[in-house]
Amino acid sequence: MKYKTLKGLQDILPPEISIWQHIEKTSREIFCTYGYQEIRLPVLESTDVFIRSIGETSDIVEKEMYTFQDKGGRSVTLRPEGTASFVRAYVEHHLYNEPAPQRFYYMGPMFRYERPQAFRYRQFYQIGAEAMGIEEPKIDAEIISMLARILGDIGLKGLNFEVTSMGCKNCRPAFRDALKNFLRDKLGSFCSDCQRRFDLNPLRILDCKVPDCISSRQGSPPVTDYLCADCKGHFESLKHNLNMLNVPHTINPNLVRGLDYYIKTAFEVTSESLGSQKAVAAGGRYDGLVDEFGGPPTPGIGFAIGMERIVPLIKDSMKNSDGPDLLICPIGEEASEKAFLLAEKLRMERLWVEANYVGSSLKSQMRKANRINAKHIVVIGDSEIKNGEAVVKNMVNGTETKSALNGEELAKTIRIQGIIPLK
Ligand code: HAM
Repeated sequence: MKYKTLKGLQDILPPEISIWQHIEKTSREIFCTYGYQEIRLPVLESTDVFIRSIGETSDIVEKEMYTFQDKGGRSVTLRPEGTASFVRAYVEHHLYNEPAPQRFYYMGPMFRYERPQAFRYRQFYQIGAEAMGIEEPKIDAEIISMLARILGDIGLKGLNFEVTSMGCKNCRPAFRDALKNFLRDKLGSFCSDCQRRFDLNPLRILDCKVPDCISSRQGSPPVTDYLCADCKGHFESLKHNLNMLNVPHTINPNLVRGLDYYIKTAFEVTSESLGSQKAVAAGGRYDGLVDEFGGPPTPGIGFAIGMERIVPLIKDSMKNSDGPDLLICPIGEEASEKAFLLAEKLRMERLWVEANYVGSSLKSQMRKANRINAKHIVVIGDSEIKNGEAVVKNMVNGTETKSALNGEELAKTIRIQGIIPLK
């Protein structure tokens, strides 16, 4: 075998792709009920788009970006996340002129040069949402509730919603001082990156994944102890609104985000079934980012779901659920012609239909029906052609129904079985 996918990248093949499509479809349906509209953004951006917004001292910018010079000598980067690209587009197209809140969603690949491991890839897919122009904490609760609805409707169970406040520019200096005081004496036990970050951006030390650093920072003061009155009020309202919407959540004052742009609300959704890479989705508020990109001061909040982390969680429950609505099994040359034509007619009825063309035995056609998970089969032989009638077998519950051997009647019979919704 000469060529293989690059390390940390993967092909997504059928039948698993049907799980991806189920997730995407469910998300789109829920987004629609909340008024979120799709936005499609390039995967390649000017490197500057990410540096200031995500943070010069963040792991993403320091170590994980796919950055290179294009043929025009410009530094470009494959997007490591969607929010910075989104805000670039929001400002570039003056989307802030539309009535607030402006709500958007996106789906697509992101790229981070991380050390690949289970549930951590170098190309991974996110489904993201961003709500712009509203400072009021009701939108924070609404977006978390929408995320809960999406993940629930996709079929995920046993998730933990962790919520915190990251404070703002006003409360950060006091927290930064408290954190530095806590870390100062222990600095020798931290990695060289953390030691460098101590003066540059000590908050990033909380996000370091080196095991020694994780244990050395145990007991560090939580940012929630240093919130200013405004942030405290916002956080209290968020909790109240989440309770009003019945969104189960836990407060985690030690929650840390790997991106610098967050202020006030931050959240993460975790699943214990995933081991160390347990975050299935995460997000938060980023008031101030639009100004950073040269737009008018505009609050914003959003989240992103990690596709590769939720697919394995529903894989078992979705096993074998996808397959053709009908497999036509012809016996003989004439039946094969009939199957060929019928299949085309039924596809015009928007059914997923497959027909066997090669003359194989009934036994092997049945084997194929099970293998491809066909929901119905119809066997056509000489007598069926002569009588213009055949038996449609429902492969899910075993029932058999006679049907006239034409596209319209067959389509009706299959839909009445209830496995495929009526048009
Ligand atoms: P993030 O926490 O960096 O946030 O990523 C969001 C989710 O993407 C994670 O919770 C995880 O499920 C998934 N993810 C991240 N890195 C990887 C990886 N290497 N392999 C597989 N999955 C991964 C953001 O990206 C923010 N832009 C979210 C946001 C939107 N905040 C506000 N608006």
